[in-house]
Order: sequence, then structure tokens, then C-alpha cells
Amino acid sequence: MKILLTGKNGQIGWELAHALAPLGEVIAFDRGGLDLAVPDQIVGAVRSVRPDVLVNAAAYTAVDRAESEPDAAHAVNAAAVAILAEEAKRVHALLIHFSTDYVFDGVKDTPYVEEDRPNPINVYGRSKLAGEHAIRSIDGPHLILRTSWVYATRGRNFFLTIRRLLRENEEVRVVSDQIGAPTPAEALGSATSTLLRKLGGANLREARDTYHLTAAGNTSWHGFAKEIARLGLRDLPNPPRIVPIPSDQYPSAARRPRNSCLSNKKLLRTFGVELPRWEACLAALHESLPRGAHLDIGAPYRR
Ligand SMILES: NC(=O)c1ccc[n+]([C@@H]2O[C@H](COP(=O)([O-])OP(=O)(O)OC[C@H]3O[C@@H](n4cnc5c(N)ncnc54)[C@H](OP(=O)(O)O)[C@@H]3O)[C@@H](O)[C@H]2O)c1
Repeated sequence: MKILLTGKNGQIGWELAHALAPLGEVIAFDRGGLDLAVPDQIVGAVRSVRPDVLVNAAAYTAVDRAESEPDAAHAVNAAAVAILAEEAKRVHALLIHFSTDYVFDGVKDTPYVEEDRPNPINVYGRSKLAGEHAIRSIDGPHLILRTSWVYATRGRNFFLTIRRLLRENEEVRVVSDQIGAPTPAEALGSATSTLLRKLGGANLREARDTYHLTAAGNTSWHGFAKEIARLGLRDLPNPPRIVPIPSDQYPSAARRPRNSCLSNKKLLRTFGVELPRWEACLAALHESLPRGAHLDIGAPYRR
């Protein structure tokens, strides 16, 4: 199987590059090798590689910055995705594309299912939803995997930010009225690999669907921070206070959904695939860290 992967240096992309390798030949691009903002580069890459599977892990992910750069977000998350979908269809490749809980407005009281009506409340969410619409309307083989609250031991994410803040401050205030499922990029990489295995060669080109794929269970950002502290700061003599605050005390350019929980039942029903609970995922990640590992935002920590 020949797999073209975009965004190989992103949180999910980096994990995918490793998780997909046993399935065949992975031709992985970073932005330097394939800039999604340049349509000709997309066309050139797909037509020269002619993959069986095209995995798009690249995206404009700066949620707050997107509010002032809607065109840039749309170019990468919607316009480029439409070209990827056209080109994948042209070479009969399955397109696996990652999308987000932020396509929903968060007003529902229970976890969102795939059939719920999206209603994004920020520019990033609207750009990602436009990407989903483009893929469905082009109607080539595709899997859209919506996930949430992604973290890893590298890149920019809440896990690394909060670890740093907890070490540097006596008190850290964390939003407690947004709930979701913190999901490690590593679990997304291996689940994607499992899905591809389960689809098998013959069914690759039949797939045309959207699935939610997150860790099980849910918590608030405050709950996530407390668990990060409990697992990761045992060495601190005076652990910092972690104070819950409402979203309106943490102003940000982009609004966020109050409820980011996605139901994973469809994925379990269809493929028998489910991720462990978020606490177990976090504990496993901690277990995998070398003792005393110092992780920083942007640090290229490798497992
Ligand atoms: N992070 C989350 O909490 C979260 C939640 C739900 C869904 N998702 C979705 O999951 C997917 C992967 O997210 P992630 O967390 O892995 O994001 P990430 O760590 O920010 O990685 C995104 C990657 O996309 C690349 N990229 C950005 N603009 C590009 C362009 N014009 N051309 C080519 N590459 C470009 C970035 O390259 P540079 O390093 O050069 O900028 C980066 O390597 C995205 O579709 C995202 O919407 C993420």
C-alpha cells in the first residue's frame, strides 16, 4: 500500500508517519515539501506519488489567530482540502481527513453524534466544516475522522503548556466550564492504522463516511490540568493551586464550544475500534516518558 501523508511534523502527522509505516510505503510531506496553500503543489504531489491512500494531517490549527486570518484558514482547511479530495478521487485513492469537535456549537447536553447538525462558532470551525463539505460533495472514497483536544509530547498543546505553567507558578487558573475528551496523537495514529488494516485492500475505495474518534470519557480543561499535575508533578515540594474559572474569565479571540464531547459509538459499531478512557491514555503517556523528562513547547521529544 502506498500512502501519501501531509503534515508529517504536526502532532498527529508525526505519529501517523510511524504508525502507518508497517502498512506499506509512506511518502510523508511537511509544509516545505508540500504547501497546501499552493494548489499546484497539491496537484503535483498527488499525481506523481499516485497513492492508494492519502492521509491529510495538515491543517491551519491556530484557532485564535484564525479569527483575524479567515482567508488563510479557509485556504488550508477548505480550498486545499477540496483539491486534495479531487486529486485523490482522480487517482482512486482513499482520502483520510482529520476534522474537529469545533464544527459543533457545544450547546447540546450529550455527546455529539455524527448525524448532529454542525454549527461552528468560530472561524477555524467554519473553515474545517467547509473542508468536510468539500470532501463529501466531491464524493470520492473518504473517511473523515473528527477528534478533539489533541495533545502529544511534542508540538503546541494544552498538556505541554499546563506542565510548564504548573512548574512556574504557585497558582494556575484553568477553564472549568468547557468539557471534552483529551486525546493523545499517538492513539489517533495507531487507531488510523487499525482502521486501514480493517478496511483491507478491496474495501479501501468503498469507504465514504464520517466518524468520531476520541479517547473515551470526558473532563473539563480544569479536570485535565489536575490529572496532568497528579501524574507529572509528584517531585514538586509545593504543588501549585489549580483554580477553576469560567470561560469568560479567560478571554480569547475565538469562542469555544462548552460541550466538545463526541460519541464514538459509530466507530465501535462499524470497526470494533475504540480508544481507552482519557485518564488511561494520559497515564500511559506518562509511563512512556523517561524519568525526569523535561518537555517543552516545541521541543522535539522523541519516544
Ligand atoms: N490539535 C487539536 O486539538 C485538534 C482537535 C481536533 C481536530 N484536530 C485536527 O487534527 C488535524 C491535525 O492536527 P494537529 O493537532 O496534529 O495539528 P498541528 O500539530 O498544528 O499540525 C498541523 C500541521 O499542518 C501543517 N501545516 C499548516 N499549514 C500548512 C500548509 N499550508 N501546508 C502544509 N502543511 C501545513 C503544520 O506545519 P508547520 O509546522 O509548518 O506549521 C503542522 O505540521 C487537523 O486537521 C486538525 O484540525 C486537531
